[in-house]
Order: sequence, then structure tokens, then C-alpha cells
Amino acid sequence: MNEPTRNFTLQDAISDVEKRYVAANPKSEAHYQAATKNMPGANTRTTIYHDPFPVVLVKGHGAKLTDLDENEYVDFLGEYTAGLYGHSEPTIKKAIQDALSGGFVLGGPNTYDAQLAQLMVERFPAVELVRFCNSGTEANMMNISIARAVTKRPAVMAFNGSYHGGLFSFAGGAPSPMNAPIETVIAEFNDVENSRQLIRQHANSLAAIIIEPVMGGGGCIPASDEFLHMLRDESEKHGIVFIFDEVMTSRLSPGGLHELVAIKPDLVSFGKYLGGGVTFGAFGGSTELMARLDPRQPDALVHSGTYNNNVLTMAAGIAGLTKVFTPDVVNKLNQSGDELRTRLQGIADQHDAPFRVMGRGSMICIHPQREPITNPAHTNASSSSARKLFHLEMHMRGCYIARRGFMSLSLPLTSADHDAFANAFESVAIEYGEVLGQQ
Ligand SMILES: Cc1ncc(COP(=O)(O)O)c(C=O)c1O
Repeated sequence: MNEPTRNFTLQDAISDVEKRYVAANPKSEAHYQAATKNMPGANTRTTIYHDPFPVVLVKGHGAKLTDLDENEYVDFLGEYTAGLYGHSEPTIKKAIQDALSGGFVLGGPNTYDAQLAQLMVERFPAVELVRFCNSGTEANMMNISIARAVTKRPAVMAFNGSYHGGLFSFAGGAPSPMNAPIETVIAEFNDVENSRQLIRQHANSLAAIIIEPVMGGGGCIPASDEFLHMLRDESEKHGIVFIFDEVMTSRLSPGGLHELVAIKPDLVSFGKYLGGGVTFGAFGGSTELMARLDPRQPDALVHSGTYNNNVLTMAAGIAGLTKVFTPDVVNKLNQSGDELRTRLQGIADQHDAPFRVMGRGSMICIHPQREPITNPAHTNASSSSARKLFHLEMHMRGCYIARRGFMSLSLPLTSADHDAFANAFESVAIEYGEVLGQQ
């Protein structure tokens, strides 16, 4: 790859790296242009678009990715936490192949669904009963719907900047116009007084409070223990269902984030890696709430979904939890994330470069800014230009991360991969620290 020329302004630096990016990816660009004819913006998943165009991935092995132009990357994005096992984990591959050879789309209960359910109930303290679905979005919508049906109240409290899937998103500080038509009360993340006051004010209409205990898409911002405990206490007092959206965070300890903070939410939403890398969602919680779905009851709530118990997902999920992501491995992965985050912040500080490295355990987000972050609104200090420069420079150094600086560590990453990332980050901090400070 070309050495960047010295740049004097942020815009100069962006033009320079964009030229190098385009030159390195002619086939991806042509593919992108052709695909615009059939998909809006050549895209079927908004999150993975970035300008000038994203590279097209053709191969993954371990923690390595290859694009259409045969550029190779170390994958630090880890499919937004779903790729925890990497791209070719042999135990998971075998489980999927075995399930395939037993026949798929069976159309009834199978031997896998009950086994995965048992594993999740044993693993996650708040989960007494569980059901499966096909995405984290669905899991959240189901939990919200259960809360509304059971409490017979209409509204849900959510937090500014949070993301619970494309149908319930408050990213960027406002409800998405694509949200499901559910009455919402929007509170400020990590603001104990504001949220407590709003809960009390709306107690009679609130069916649920839903929170990402570490805000993922919003910038890997942990909720404080004080904040989470206040929400648990107030929701209990007012008969409001407390939902933890652990679609990303369930990887942060063997029993999920709720185990780490010693809180028992009423319902928990799951997704991503728990399906072993195959389409997955699940929701579960107290027997009192979940038993309302028991079809043997005359007034049972209905939850259906053709692929809810598809054998490929169930088999991959079982293999992952029993043979690969065992409690010991969970702890090691998250410890390596804590170490990497501390190391990166140390590098930034040593070079007086404007970075905040946020997250918890294996979830990391690098923000090109000096301002401290406890609330998603604080991340507005990172301009989209600064994020673009940082992302493209890391990309050109072979480090695959999200445009917004998001990363999640996968099991096949080695300490040599961490070293390579830290070296790439240091060279960006040295070369571009000053221009990033100009935003
Ligand atoms: C916290 C959180 N909830 C829900 C979702 C939606 O999950 P899915 O993309 O599987 O629908 C995501 C996805 O990134 C998420 O991060």
C-alpha cells in the first residue's frame, strides 16, 4: 500500500486516503455500482454501508477476511458481535453439516430446540423459560409485546441513542421514523434523576423499560451500576417489566451482563453469536411472564415463526455453548478485550492523539475525540469526517472495523493480531492525531 503523503487539513487527509482506497478496490467498486440497479444503494442492511462504497467480502477463514480485489484483513469487527466464533470454527461447521445431513425444514419439534433452551436456562440467571426467533429485532419486539399484553399498559421507556433493531431505534438521539407504532417515553442514558423522574411521572402507562446495559451501536457506553439498579428498583416498585437487551452484551460474561451486575431483569433479549453464526434470536425470563406463551393455556399469547427452531441454528448454537464458548473461554476473551482497550487508550494518550476507547470486555468502540463519554450524545464530538478518516486509514492498514469505530473480538484472534492492530493504531495516532484534532 502507498505511504500517505503528509496532510495539513482533515479534508486533505480524507481525499488522500479515499484515493488510495478507491485505487485498491476496483472490483468492489464495479460490483457496488452494478448492484445499485437491484438494491437501494446496493445495500440490504443499512449498517454495512459507508462511503465511498464498502468492499465486497468473498472469503473468511478464522479471523481473516478477503475481499473481491484479494485484499486481506484481520477481522476486528466480528460481524457486530455475531461473528464471535470467527468464520470457520471446525466444531460449529461439523455441527451444521451433521444437522444438514439429518434433513432440514422438518416442520415440527426437533431434538435440538429443547437442548439449546436447556443450555440457555442453565447459563443465564434471569432466564427461567426461553423461546427462539430469528433476530435480535424480533426478540426485542416479542419482549415488548409480552410486557404490553401482560400489563395491559401501552408505553415503553427507551433511552436516547439506543438501538434495539430497525423497528425500535433511537440512534442519533431521536426515534426512527421506521419504528413500530408503540408509545415511547424517551429518557437519558446514565442520567439517574432524569430517568427516575420520568418513570414516576409515566408509571401508570409504562408497560416496560428496555435498555442495552452496555450501549453497543451508540458507541460501546456502559450503563453505570447505579443507573441499572435504580431502573430495577423503580420498575419493580411500579409493576413495570424490566427488559435487558443483551443481543450484544450476553457475551460479556458466562451468564451475560445481568450476571455481571447482579441484576435480574424480568425479560432478556438475545441474538447474534448464540446461534453459532447462523440467523438467531431468543427471548426469555421469568416463568410468570414466559408461561403466558404456553399453548396449553386457553388464553395463551401467540408467538410463531416458521424458522424459530430450524435445525441449523439450533445445532450450531448448541455446539458453540457446549464445546467452544465455555465459561473459561468467555472470561479469557473479555479479559483480552479489556487489555486491548487499555493498551489502545495508553497509545493515544502517549501521543496526545484525540481518541476515546470505549467499551467493556470484548466490545470496543474507538471514538476520534478528546471529550469523555458517558452518554451517546457525547459521541457527537467525533465528526463524521474524523470517523471516516480513522476508519479508512485502519482499513488501509488491514484492520477491518466499522465506520463508527465499533469492534468486537472473536475467538480466533491471536495476540499477534492484537499487536498488529495496536501498531496500526499507533501509526494512525502519530500520523493523523493532529488533523483529527482539527474537526
Ligand atoms: C443491542 C441490539 N439489539 C438488537 C439488535 C438487532 O439484532 P438483529 O440485527 O439480529 O435484528 C442489535 C443489532 O445490532 C443490537 O445491537
